[in-house]
Amino acid sequence: MIVIEASILSADFARLGEQARQAEAARVDAIQVDVMDGCFVPDITFGPGVVRALRPLVSLPLDVHLMIVEPEKHLEVFAGAGADRLIVHQETCPHLHCVLQCIRELKTETGVALTPGTPLSVLEEVLDLADLIQVMTVNPGWGGQPFIHSQLDKIRRLRRILDERGLDTPIAVDGGIDPTTAPLVVSTGATVLIAGSSIFNNRASVAENVAALRASVSK
Ligand code: DX5
Repeated sequence: MIVIEASILSADFARLGEQARQAEAARVDAIQVDVMDGCFVPDITFGPGVVRALRPLVSLPLDVHLMIVEPEKHLEVFAGAGADRLIVHQETCPHLHCVLQCIRELKTETGVALTPGTPLSVLEEVLDLADLIQVMTVNPGWGGQPFIHSQLDKIRRLRRILDERGLDTPIAVDGGIDPTTAPLVVSTGATVLIAGSSIFNNRASVAENVAALRASVSK
């Protein structure tokens, strides 16, 4: 089953709750909340308060993508705010094994994200602690960037490594996902598609955009 997550980074911030509900009505499978700290990535976006505000508005899982330095200092407050999954970047975690264990102790699912420049080898010792691996298909920091095609082979290799280890860990992709790139990533083994600007835009409604994305991977 292909999972579609709406990244609210591209939503209208003045109507965040309404847009999250529109995505739920459009039958996305989860909402991704992109947390940026102005340090690991240039922009500053959402804190735990936004997660707490969205929690009662949708019954969908809330995946919190932590694009922040020292994420270990913020795990508990985001879990307490209602996050169902906490996704940390390997590039910000010198103690990744410990961070993933901490997330699990908070009864929250774990995710590890890799920027396009980070090799798969960094995951070797923690694969069994990750409930999801998120391959960034853009350099993190903004919505609306072009898809980086070189990541297709990375997804294919990751799927092979996981299969060889007997792990059915889902692979998520994030960045530049639309009805053209979605079939490409699915053909290489990704099953979780995170999309922002192809869902939230002025070209069509959220419902129409999600339907187009879903149709592109249902052929
Ligand atoms: C970027 C974020 C993405 C972004 C995706 O750093 O992690 O989730 O919102 O946006 P699109 O789908 O527009 O590339």
